[in-house]
Amino acid sequence: MEMPKIALGAWAWGNDGTFGGKQDENVLKEVFDTAMANGLCLWDTAYAYGAGQSEKVLGGFVEGLPRGSFMISDKLTPQVMDASSQTPVKDMLDMQLSLMGLDRFDIYWIHNTSGAPGWTRKLAEFFEGRKDAPLIGVSNHNLSEIKEADKVLREHGLKLSAVQNHYSLINRSSESSGILKYCRENGMTFFSYMVLEQGALSGKYDSSHPMPEGSARSKTYNPLMDKLEVINAELSKIAAKHGVSTAQIPVAWAIAKGTLPIIGVTGKKQVEDAVKAMNVKLTDDEIETIEDTAERQGIDAIRFWEKEMR
Ligand SMILES: NC(=O)c1ccc[n+]([C@@H]2O[C@H](COP(=O)([O-])OP(=O)(O)OC[C@H]3O[C@@H](n4cnc5c(N)ncnc54)[C@H](OP(=O)(O)O)[C@@H]3O)[C@@H](O)[C@H]2O)c1
Repeated sequence: MEMPKIALGAWAWGNDGTFGGKQDENVLKEVFDTAMANGLCLWDTAYAYGAGQSEKVLGGFVEGLPRGSFMISDKLTPQVMDASSQTPVKDMLDMQLSLMGLDRFDIYWIHNTSGAPGWTRKLAEFFEGRKDAPLIGVSNHNLSEIKEADKVLREHGLKLSAVQNHYSLINRSSESSGILKYCRENGMTFFSYMVLEQGALSGKYDSSHPMPEGSARSKTYNPLMDKLEVINAELSKIAAKHGVSTAQIPVAWAIAKGTLPIIGVTGKKQVEDAVKAMNVKLTDDEIETIEDTAERQGIDAIRFWEKEMR
């Protein structure tokens, strides 16, 4: 099955306090159905998104669908592994598959570098020679860690197929550190996460309409609203020229940069925007303008689980 240009992210579906209020499952079902009807069939989740809650909800939606009609990207999160087990990878994987009611994933990631490359080695040992091995990726890894992970996988007859890092107009460290170029030159797909900075670059929030208090994202972005407003104003000008909504511009930008954005969606209209964003072609001048505007704000967008990508 060919990968779509955009993946959809289900972190907010985990209701873990990052995004605030609990998501309504009926609304999420509408989100899911709209996406599938429009060919957006690649879903990104993780056990860490609400201790299995995101996987459970998504699993409920794919139940009964032909297995070839959707793709699931899930993650081995080192922090929730049972390191004392003789079979930690199998344990984690079986638990996640059972939460989703599936017998395999399409893409499986090492979520972060905690205990790496040890977990990559264990994962490689587990999947070595198996016909049902998924595409294997690493997330939140820097360039030397990416190369090391690929080497470990190749020692077991596998290879690194994808990298998933934070990449947005206010966090381009995977570009400046050469990761994007390395992925391009080595046939690895670069999945960009948080392209919309959890909604802060969508045009939906500003100083008069900040993110609702009480969520992890409001603590991060509300103090930066004045700077984010400057970027959103530029995005919205370009969006108007293309006859689209502000949120579609960062998505179109991430595609134009050769990445596969994972967009977090919590409403039907957001999926419709994502679908349309795939056809927005930004000019070189527009790309330069939004990148310069964002850079001038000097925002440090590294989140607590991330590190500088040198
Ligand atoms: N590997 C990792 O460590 C890692 C880390 C972070 C994320 N991820 C993955 O990447 C995905 C994307 O990141 P994310 O969900 O954190 O944030 P995101 O994609 O940057 O932003 C998602 C939020 O933006 C808003 N939004 C989306 N489309 C919109 C539109 N068309 N118009 C207006 N607002 C819109 C929604 O906010 P409202 O709900 O407020 O409307 C949504 O919750 C995650 O779901 C997850 O799958 C992976």
